[in-house]
Amino acid sequence: MDLLIPDKVHDESRQGEALILEPGYKNNGRKLYIESYGCAMNFSDSEIVASILAEKGFETTSDFNNADVVFINTCSIRENAEVRVRNRLKEFAGAKFRNPGMVVGVLGCMAERLKAKFLEEEKLVDVVVGPDAYRSLPDLIEQVDSGQRAVNVLLSREETYADISPVRLNSNGINAFVSIMRGCDNMCSFCVVPFTRGRERSRDAYSVVAECRALFEAGYREVTLLGQNVDSYKWSGELADGSEQSAVGDKVKVVNFANLLEMVALVSPELRVRFSTSHPKDITDEVLHTIARYENICNYIHLPVQSGNSRILEMMNRTYDREWYMNRIDAIRRIIPECAISTDVITGFCTETEEEHNDTVTMMDYVKYDFAYMFKYSERPGTLAAKRYTDDIPEDVKQRRLAQIVAKQQQYSFYRMQARIGKIEKVLIEGFSKKSDKDYCGRSDQNAMVIFPVNENYKPGQYVNVLVERTTSATLIGTIV
Ligand code: 5AD
Ligand code: SF4
Repeated sequence: MDLLIPDKVHDESRQGEALILEPGYKNNGRKLYIESYGCAMNFSDSEIVASILAEKGFETTSDFNNADVVFINTCSIRENAEVRVRNRLKEFAGAKFRNPGMVVGVLGCMAERLKAKFLEEEKLVDVVVGPDAYRSLPDLIEQVDSGQRAVNVLLSREETYADISPVRLNSNGINAFVSIMRGCDNMCSFCVVPFTRGRERSRDAYSVVAECRALFEAGYREVTLLGQNVDSYKWSGELADGSEQSAVGDKVKVVNFANLLEMVALVSPELRVRFSTSHPKDITDEVLHTIARYENICNYIHLPVQSGNSRILEMMNRTYDREWYMNRIDAIRRIIPECAISTDVITGFCTETEEEHNDTVTMMDYVKYDFAYMFKYSERPGTLAAKRYTDDIPEDVKQRRLAQIVAKQQQYSFYRMQARIGKIEKVLIEGFSKKSDKDYCGRSDQNAMVIFPVNENYKPGQYVNVLVERTTSATLIGTIV
């Protein structure tokens, strides 16, 4: 089992969540059930899918037994993510038996990885659709209605769904994810994403800003800009008539990530801006200075290290080494002293020795991360590592190394939490706490969850200053001041 300390980007508590919309105006009498696994990008894609089908008159349902179309948006990142989906498909079999007209579709990364093989392996599945082919879903459903099974796993160099305004699913009306790019060109040797999500492409900067503005006007107060590697965001401001327009005043012709962050931050000082995921090889001082300059760009960076050892990093094809990563951490600490940092770590990558593993442990001592997602290496078919290297670290060794870094991270998470006691945090109220409607919950600038007694003068969506009085290992507890 993977152990992780959750935050919002790959949220354990949301895995398999079904997405529900307000009833639309074009009802065609058919009901869509869609549930999502994997990263925030996948959850955001499900909103695009729902938007495409809502246009065609589909309503959503939270019970797959009542659905005419059942979609599962899948993840391939580790083997256990795929096992989870296979098991879930078995649960849909009964419903399909009772309602043979039900359309069952597999979307997302597993669909892209397995393609038509899925139809052979899972007799229940009617439709297989990859992440760049969601516009074809209405046609594919028609094809199934007429008795055929359907596959579209074409990847695209252009598709960004920029013109589709996603319907917000299960939203609290306060935080939203906004996808700014798709795909990935990095080719980390362990990773399936370049194969399942295709080439990297950046979305029109103006459509990103327009979406954030619309969200703000609809009452949202926090946007998280999403991409596999946001630091390589790059959009050349070409307008429909072929002319170029500078994005920020007259300063730039090409919009890079720092420029985009600034454009979104300028929507309103009341709109918090977060982003994920940053890449150590690409994160620039310009981005760090932009974060420092705008109060509403949150002081929180997710900067996956994967390993603290330079030889392993080289085998992972991460294109940075231990010193480079430490240098980026130093730059963050210098330019944004209050910045929280989280990471991803893989234990037991091919040929990793105890000493090399220990370099990951000492990297954790160096950074003292606020959060970490930690995984055992899971070989994925088709990746560079699967082709080049033997997955030679025994399961029990991977597990022991994982347990060691998880224990280490728990210490540092607690240490970071404790350091906030006595400080005043600016918190965006998200709603009532899970445990009690006498308490509100919300996040600090640094992305820590904060719990405090309800005060009638403040409502969800407003900012409050909270004095931190104590902590658990994952939560700050305090009162409004
Ligand atoms: N095995 C284990 N963890 C993986 N990740 C990506 N691919 C694998 C794999 N094959 C982890 C990385 C990445 C995060 C999203 O998932 O740490 O940053
Ligand atoms: Fe997201 Fe990667 Fe999983 Fe695809 S494989 S859903 S990109 S985490």
